[in-house]
Amino acid sequence: MSEFHNPGLVIEPGRVRSGKIIWRSPSNIALIKYWGKYGTQMPANPSVSFTLDAAHTETTLEYGPKMTEKKGVSVDFLFQGLTNKVFSDRIEKFLLQLLPVFPFLSQIELTIFSSNSFPHSAGIASSASAMSALALCLCSMEDELFGTLQDDEAFDRKASYVARLGSGSACRSIYPEVALWGEITESSKSSNLYAIPWGNHLHTEFKNMHDDILIVDKAEKSISSSVGHQLMDSNPYSETRYMTVQLRMKRMLMALKTGDMELFGELTEQEAMTLHGLMMLSEPSYMLLRPGTLAIIEEVRRFRQETKLPLYFTLDAGPNVHLLYPHKYNSKIGEFVRSNLLKHCYENSFIPDQMGSGPQQL
Ligand code: DP6
Repeated sequence: MSEFHNPGLVIEPGRVRSGKIIWRSPSNIALIKYWGKYGTQMPANPSVSFTLDAAHTETTLEYGPKMTEKKGVSVDFLFQGLTNKVFSDRIEKFLLQLLPVFPFLSQIELTIFSSNSFPHSAGIASSASAMSALALCLCSMEDELFGTLQDDEAFDRKASYVARLGSGSACRSIYPEVALWGEITESSKSSNLYAIPWGNHLHTEFKNMHDDILIVDKAEKSISSSVGHQLMDSNPYSETRYMTVQLRMKRMLMALKTGDMELFGELTEQEAMTLHGLMMLSEPSYMLLRPGTLAIIEEVRRFRQETKLPLYFTLDAGPNVHLLYPHKYNSKIGEFVRSNLLKHCYENSFIPDQMGSGPQQL
């Protein structure tokens, strides 16, 4: 039984209260990527990410006494104000899986309203912000009903654990600035079960890093991340990946600590290319990069060579490009983005974002 399973969290019959909780939680961008998993959402390797700011989900959770005889969980889920069957089914399944963690979920009725700050169809991974916002709401509800999560560290850890069960990368969205998920020898606090805050290990060079998200293609991904993770099980290069990523992680943590921008950039770009390389080397092979993605990567490399400015790219499991750079180069790089890169984007669209201070209860 996990340390987060708590059969004692049951409300006395007739004492079910009503309440409303709202959390806003950001997306995050991995520098060292989580790619491949085993068991129940356990990562095949450790990952580290920047927490974002503008790209976020706002989730309202209303709860009250259960009026129906329905067994299990009773939930209505609305996304951007509308009922969404696909999302509702996923949320219901997620909540059922959480019954050992929050047994009281079978005693109440829930209505969940969720909306994103960015268009769902923009091709931006929304599961990290959505699942972290929901996990935070559930932990707040536990605390309101039982007073069991008064300690901030315990609250965050449980929220991260719950978010991970919804979507692996979501567990990193709980913390400001930088989060680390997965066991590493450098920290006895690190865990595969939840992420831990890593902002205290961040050199000032990396404070307020920008992340401009260039929307190359907003179509739904042809292969979901879940399937991508699965394909790692049969990927002939996965063992090499899991071995080499350990050293890359160590070097990345060193770069973040010492303020070594160049090493940070080199490793970040290697990771992005490795992720997409692994997709192309999967059996069956697939590719999420688009011509616009490659054009942007080439332009970024050329710009860096010519100007010596620290502008680096990374990629999610999709064609969109994340541009990372320190705040002090904002105006020069902004100009370059507008003049050279937006033409490769879908309807010139991009989301200017930056490192953020983590989720907020509203
Ligand atoms: C490439 O967290 O979306 O963005 O656990 O199946 O929901 P599930 O996968 P997900 O995978 C994210 C993969 C990634 C890298 C990362 O964020 O670390």
